[in-house]
Amino acid sequence: MLLFYLYLFNFGLFFLFLFLFVKTLQQATQSRATEMSTMAAGKLLLAPVATQFGCSMSTRFFLKPLSFKVNSPLFRNFAAKVRASPAIATFETVLETTLNENEPKAKEQVLACPICYETLIWNGDPVFSVDSTPRSTLKCNTCKKSYSGNETHLDLTVASGTKKYGENMPASSELFRLPIVSFLYERGWRQAFSIWGGFPGPEKEFEMMKDYLNPVIGGSIIDASCASGLFSRLFQKSGLFSLVVALDYSETMLKQCYDFIKQEENISNENLILVRADIARLPFASSSIDAVHAGAALHCWPSPSSGVAEINRILRPGGVFIATTYVVDGPYSFIPFLSPIRETIAQVSGSHIFLSDRELKDLCITCGLVDVTCVRNGRFVMISARKPA
Ligand SMILES: C[S@@+](CC[C@H](N)C(=O)[O-])C[C@H]1O[C@@H](n2cnc3c(N)ncnc32)[C@H](O)[C@@H]1O
Repeated sequence: MLLFYLYLFNFGLFFLFLFLFVKTLQQATQSRATEMSTMAAGKLLLAPVATQFGCSMSTRFFLKPLSFKVNSPLFRNFAAKVRASPAIATFETVLETTLNENEPKAKEQVLACPICYETLIWNGDPVFSVDSTPRSTLKCNTCKKSYSGNETHLDLTVASGTKKYGENMPASSELFRLPIVSFLYERGWRQAFSIWGGFPGPEKEFEMMKDYLNPVIGGSIIDASCASGLFSRLFQKSGLFSLVVALDYSETMLKQCYDFIKQEENISNENLILVRADIARLPFASSSIDAVHAGAALHCWPSPSSGVAEINRILRPGGVFIATTYVVDGPYSFIPFLSPIRETIAQVSGSHIFLSDRELKDLCITCGLVDVTCVRNGRFVMISARKPA
C-alpha cells in the first residue's frame, strides 16, 4: 500500500516538486548556466529517480542523445521506392490521388488560424522546410491576425504576439518549458519511461505503429507534443510521409528539436516544419491531416478530451490517431480511494492518470473516433483509432 502511494507521488507530486525545484535552480543560475552546470543539475535531478527504481543512471545518457535508425525492411523498401521515383511531384500526385480520396488539401492550405480555423495566407510562396517556415509571416483573412516565428519554429498559439498578457498552463505542461528539462529529455528522461512504465523505446514504438499507419503512408503526419522531436526525426527519416509537423507547446523543446535536426545527418529539411501550438487549439484546417501521433503525452495535456476532440477535427475522414501513455491497473485497481487520489493529483499537477484501457477507449469514442485498439506492455499502452470515413 505504502509503495503504491509512493508510486502515485511519482506521477503527480513528484513532477510538481521537480518543477518547483528546477524553476528555483533556473532562476538562481539564470542565463549564466553553462552546459556543464546543466548536465550536473540533470544528474542531481535524475539520480534519485534512478535510485528509486533500483537502477543506475549512466553518465553517457547525459552526454550523447540517442541516434535512431529505421531498420525495418518495409521502411527501407518504401524509402527506396520514393528515392527511385522519377519526380517527387509525380510521387506526391500519385499518393494524393490514390490515398487521399477525400480531396486532400494542398500543403499551403493545411495551416489555419487558431482563432478562426480559417486557412492562413502566406506572404510569398509557402515553402515547407525547417529553415524557411519560421521566417515566414502568415495572416488570417478573417480576424486579420498575423503569425510569425523565430529562427526555430512558427508560433501558432492563440496568445502569440501578446505584449502584456501572459498565461500559465498546469505544471504538467509548464514543466516541459524549462530549458533544463528540454536539454535532459533525450539524455535520460525519456529512457527512464522504459524503466518505470514499460515504454519499449522510440524505435520499437515506431515499429509497433507501422501497421496502423499503413493506410496513411504518403500523407501528412503531425507529431503532437513532439518534445525534442525523437519521433518527428524518425518519421522524417523514414521517407513515409509527404509532410511531417513537429508540434509542441514548449518553445524550449522546439529549440532542442531544431538543434537535433541540424546535428543529425541524413535528415531532409524539406517538408518538415516545427510549430508551437496548444493541443486544445490546433492551427490546422478541419479534415486536412492524414495522421496524428502523440507519444507519451495524453497524460500531460490539461484536458485530454479537448486534445483528442481537436485531433478528430483536423484529421481527414479515415485519418489515423496513434497515442501512447501509461495505465495504472491490475493489482492497483484494488487500492481504495484511487479515483479521489488521482483527481487530487490532476488538480495539483495537471497530470492525468488513466486507470484502464476501457477509459482510454471511452475517451476516443466520446471524441468521435472509431476502431479503437489498445496494445499493452506492462503499464505502457499504445492506442490507435480512426476518424470515420
Ligand atoms: C512527456 S513529453 C512527450 C514527448 C514525446 N512525444 C515522447 O514520446 O517522448 C510531453 C510533451 O507534451 C507537451 N505538452 C504539454 N502540454 C501541452 C499542450 N497543451 N499542447 C501541446 N503540447 C503539450 C510538453 O511540452 C512535452 O513536450
